[in-house]
Amino acid sequence: MKFSEMMLKELENRFNFPVEIHYVDETTSTNTVLKQMAADGAKEGTVYLAARQTQGRGRMGRSFFSPDGGLYFSMLFRPKMNPATSLLLTVAAAVAVAEAMDEVFDTQSKIKWVNDVYVNGKKVCGILAESQLDPSKPTEQAVIVGIGINVCAPKDGFPTEIENRAGALCETNEAVSDQAVRLLAEIINRLYSFASVLSEKPFLTAYRNRSFLIGKTVSYKRGGTQQTAQVTGIDEQARLVVLQNGQEISLGAGEVQLMSIATEGINPHDQERNGGTQQD
Ligand code: BTN
Repeated sequence: MKFSEMMLKELENRFNFPVEIHYVDETTSTNTVLKQMAADGAKEGTVYLAARQTQGRGRMGRSFFSPDGGLYFSMLFRPKMNPATSLLLTVAAAVAVAEAMDEVFDTQSKIKWVNDVYVNGKKVCGILAESQLDPSKPTEQAVIVGIGINVCAPKDGFPTEIENRAGALCETNEAVSDQAVRLLAEIINRLYSFASVLSEKPFLTAYRNRSFLIGKTVSYKRGGTQQTAQVTGIDEQARLVVLQNGQEISLGAGEVQLMSIATEGINPHDQERNGGTQQD
């Protein structure tokens, strides 16, 4: 979404934390650019925002469709914590996005583990957190949290391979500048405040309450084998807890790939596919 000078000013006035915004009309990937800025010494709280991306990236090497009308931004954190921090920041970001959306767009958003935000059964937001460790400063990792939100539906529609799964907050291109500014500010303020007390995980209860998966039966791939199990919860490390052969086990985001949700009432868009599809 294009930000005018006035919108950027309005945005800056809304921050409760020291945030430094860099805005461009077009970039390759806000995560890629901010990663380089982090390597060059950018401060915590630096945000890189683009109206569109030409090489938006998603999880598992997928691309992320990023035309005009969406919000695409990345925020830099420098937590003094272990590598699990990056997962916690993703979880915090999902809650920040879901709560901010509900407040500004009056939605009832859900979170699909790990980090997809759904509205009316369609994916409207994806999150990609990437960490960078400087070996000379092992306690100072940089975590780049990238967030992509389909605010307005794309002018020419979503590509066919994602049109059943992807949704937007506004179905038409109505003027939503005010809401976009508020949404971005609300997300950044929430995420910053969660990040400042990350180890206390104040967002975990909200994350569980908004879960799209608890109580459903899912198929997933782990170590090359496909399995089916019922989801019973989300543990303290934000891992998915499933009941398999009468035993509860926790699945980490890095070790499993969710394949499908097999409960009645679920649309086919809930399938996570393997390989290059966008906005899965
Ligand atoms: C996913 O759904 O797999 C995650 C998508 C993350 C997309 C955002 S858009 C802003 C930032 N820049 C990127 O290249 N990716 C993230």
